[in-house]
Order: sequence, then structure tokens, then C-alpha cells
Amino acid sequence: MMETNFLIIGSGAAGLTLAVKLAAKFPKKKITVVTKAHQSESNTKYAQGGVAAVFDLKGDSFQKHIEDTLIAGDGLCDKEIVEMVIKEGPLRLKELMEWGANFDTNEDGELSLGREGGHSKFRVIHHKDTTGNEIERALLERTEQLPNITILAHHFAIDLITEHHFPELKTDETSCYGAYVLDQISGSIFPIKADCTILASGGMGQVYGHTTNPAVATGDGIAMAYRAKARIENMEFIQFHPTALYDGKNGSSFLISEAIRGFGAFIRNKKGERFMLNYDPRGELASRDIVSRAIDSEIKKSGEECVYLDCTHLDIDALKLHFPNIYETCLQKDIDLEKDWIPVVPAAHYLCGGVAVDVDGKTSVKNLFACGECSYTGLHGANRLASNSLLEALVYADRIFKYISKNLPLRTTISIAEWDDTGTLLLRESENMQEKTIELQQVMRRFAGVVRNNTDLNEASLQLERLYTETELLYQKYKLNTVLCQLRNMVNVAHLIIQQSLIRKKNRGGYYNEDYNKINIKEII
Ligand code: FAD
Ligand code: SIN
Repeated sequence: MMETNFLIIGSGAAGLTLAVKLAAKFPKKKITVVTKAHQSESNTKYAQGGVAAVFDLKGDSFQKHIEDTLIAGDGLCDKEIVEMVIKEGPLRLKELMEWGANFDTNEDGELSLGREGGHSKFRVIHHKDTTGNEIERALLERTEQLPNITILAHHFAIDLITEHHFPELKTDETSCYGAYVLDQISGSIFPIKADCTILASGGMGQVYGHTTNPAVATGDGIAMAYRAKARIENMEFIQFHPTALYDGKNGSSFLISEAIRGFGAFIRNKKGERFMLNYDPRGELASRDIVSRAIDSEIKKSGEECVYLDCTHLDIDALKLHFPNIYETCLQKDIDLEKDWIPVVPAAHYLCGGVAVDVDGKTSVKNLFACGECSYTGLHGANRLASNSLLEALVYADRIFKYISKNLPLRTTISIAEWDDTGTLLLRESENMQEKTIELQQVMRRFAGVVRNNTDLNEASLQLERLYTETELLYQKYKLNTVLCQLRNMVNVAHLIIQQSLIRKKNRGGYYNEDYNKINIKEII
């Protein structure tokens, strides 16, 4: 068994920011970060557009950013949380810059500001089109300077340790005592006992298969918290990014940043029509839910497989300078932005809901916090405004840090049992995990995509019940590996998405059920 003061699950922007802050403030305490792939692998690493924050106090204001966030969230944001995050955002970004993150500047040396869908002003701080990679680099370098941080790469958190693991303990309150962790190289499973545990495990795009998210985004933290009986909310609000590069039958994965539309790119159908203005007066810069639904509708009407992003009218040299990663990646696929349109489709991108937390990042389980994409803070409501996610991760890492600093958790005296897998068998190849994962992803794409209806949701629910029973049997019978644990987690997350979708009786933001009429957005602003 390993013991630590602070156990952080995940090494993206949320987890690493918190690790750095705790380690600097408490040099005698141990901070352990477990992360299931290479330490840099995360949604953070792939973030393109940037971080939204008000730096231009002449042309922009906190109030405008707050309004844009509330409009995108379609009436379901928590206004106090929105105000807090937006006002604290610039301070957190300055901190990140002090730690070595570089953001683009203009000729006057001021931060260069980009624009994305739903933003009424230019306010997105970025590092070309590889902002997340730069943030991840700077944070990882910072952790290396702090000897009390241990990053355990290729370690997979399987389950949180709670009273559930000690039936002899009689208490009404659920507390977290750490997590059982699988060393993915040796295959051994051991407990990490912690004074407090922070979930920073990111999103769940892989539940849909066609996603902008990397393979690690399987919703593990949400599934673990759900099994630990923490409150999970707003899971029906899956954000589909409108413009993922269409890659034939393989689905889609590479993101074409919304910032490229902020730069002037048009969306066209195969006939060349700029159809977005038929759906929203903001055209290509309407919020993501609206653009994704418009594209979905055009694709269904035309029977085509994708729509197109047209950059051919833009200054190609400026485009290459601002979006080198997108330019090069398209070129490798024989798409030359100077003359070709980019084929794009909506793909699962972001989860607006997650583990419910209060203003200090506390979950409903004692000594368990959640931060970043796995959490539900109330900032995003029914639809996240572009580039508000990294902002949320940075601000909440700081909130949790400040709360913990004032309320240091006590060391528990409880003794934690080693992992017991006596009697389990080695997983047989015939138990095809890959097949089951694909089946789950197909169910979610078919029955719980951009546009849903109750018949489909009920069908998904039935199919998930079967997948749940099959997966639980495998989990009980065999020695665990990453693929099996991820499948189990994705089945849990899919169940939450379907059940919470069925509960919602009105369309809002990213949730659209054709059995209900859309409420008028103007009613709720
Ligand atoms: P992540 O960065 O995803 O980190 C999660 C970590 O948890 C990873 O290290 C993962 O390996 C680890 N982990 C997960 N499960 C386990 C487990 N069981 N055991 C151990 N470790 C585990 N947002 C913006 O604000 N601006 C943008 O421009 C932007 N662009 C984006 C572009 C792309 C392509 C994508 C996919 C997302 C983008 N987003 C953007 C969203 C944003 O990047 C994420 O929401 C944010 O980075 C989440 O940070 P995080 O720290 O919460 O999670
Ligand atoms: C993008 O660059 O389009 C993604 C931004 C985000 O998800 O906030």
C-alpha cells in the first residue's frame, strides 16, 4: 500500500495546476498524481482555440463575457459561479504565464486575442492552434521543479475507496480514503491511501467513438464517483463540436478549431451554400449547439456525409501563421486550405455535466473533490461557451487549493485492505472487449447523438442494460486490465447520459429531443 497526503487522479490542466499549487504551499506534504497513460496525455494537450478571459478592458468587459456565457448556457448556468469564474480567470492566466506558459502577442507586445462561436468580443488567449500543448508543457516542467510531487504515469485508478470497502464501519456519511490503482505495466493492483482525493480525470468523448477526444477520455472519474454514490448532474448535455475533420468511415477525430471561423472561415454545404445564416443571425459564430444542429440538419436533408469549411477567401500566410497545426494536418490528408474546402462533421467533444461540486470543488462525498471536465460546477449550464473549459479547470484548481489550505484534512487511521482478486481468471481473448466497446459506441451514436427522441433513448437504455450485465460479469470473473475497466466505466457513463436525458423534458442548449419543442432563447435571457 502507498500513502500520500493528496491523491490527484489525472494530469491535465486541472490536476497539474492543483498539484503545483499544493506542492509549493506544502513542501513537506506528498502529492501523488496518478495518470493512466504518458503524463502529458489528456484532453488538455489537444486544446486548440485557447482560454477565454477578459484582458482587453477597453473593448471588452467581465459583464460581456458573463452575458455570452449565460446565453450559450441557455438558461441553466449558475450565475454566481459564472461571475466568479470569469472575474478570477485573468489572475489564473497570469499565474500560468508566470510559470512559463507562452501565449501569442501582437506587435505591441499585448496578448493577441482570438474569437470563437458565441463570443461577442475577441478574448481568446492562445498559443497558435496548440494552446493546450503549451499549457501542458509549462505545467509538467513546473512539476519537475517540485520534489514533493510524484507522477505515476501508466497507473489507472480503478475505484475510489469509501466506507463501501469497510462493511464493519457504521456511518451515515460517505468519505473517500484514496483509490485502488492498477499499475498498467506490471498488472499489479494496490491501494493508495490519501487524506484527500481529487478527481481531475477529464471527459468521456470515447463513449461515442466519433470524438475529438483522445483515447484516455473514457469518463473514468465520473464512473468511479457514481459508484461511490457521489452526486452526478447534467450528463445529458454532451457538447458536439461542429467541425471535426470528416475522415470517412473511421468517424472523425482531428479538430478544426472554431477559432478558424473566428478568423473568417465559412461553412458551406456541398452546393456551396453558406447555410448557417438560415439558422442563426450570428452565422458561423453562433454557439456550438446551434451550429452542430444546423449541420446535422443539412446532412440529413441532403443525404451527404459531411459539410465543408471554406478558408479559400482568407489570407493564406496569416492563416498558416495562426493555425500551423491545422494547416499541416490537412495538408497531410491532401487538403490544401488555399484551394480546398475541409470536409467536417459534428463529433462528441465535451461533457458539460459531471460530478457535482460546490464553489470550492467539494463533491457530495467527504474528502473527495472534482476539478476540470469531470466536474459539474454550474459554469456551462446547457452548453459550454468556447474556451471556457480550460478557464474553469484553472479557476477551480485554485478554489480547491485555497479550500484545502484553510481546511487541511486529517490523516485517517483506517486500515485499508490490499486488493483481493483470488479466484479470478486471466482474461480470455475470446471475450472481445474491443467488440463490446464498439457496440457501446454505436448505441450511443445511433440513439443519443446531436438530436434525440424518447423512443431511441428507451432503446439505448435496453441495450445498455444488457451491456452492463455482460460487463459486470467479466469484471467479477477476470483479473482486471485497462480495457475492461474502461469499458465498465463507459457503460456507467452511457447509462447516466441516457437516464438523465430521459428525465429532461425541455430542450435546452446541447440537449435536443425532437419530442419536445425548443423553448424560446429570448425568454430566458
Ligand atoms: P484532461 O486534460 O482530459 O486530463 C485528464 C487526465 O486524467 C488525463 O491525464 C487522463 O489520462 C487522466 N485519467 C483519466 N482517467 C484516469 C484513470 N482512471 N486513472 C488515472 N488517470 C486517468 N477547451 C478550452 O477551454 N479551449 C480550447 O481551445 C479547447 N480545445 C479543445 C480541443 C480538443 C481537441 C479537445 C479534445 C478539447 C478541447 N477543449 C478546449 C476542452 C479542454 O481541453 C478540456 O475540457 C480540458 O483540457 C480538460 O482538462 P482536465 O484537466 O479536466 O482533463
Ligand atoms: C476549438 O478550438 O474549437 C475548441 C475550443 C473549445 O473546445 O473550447
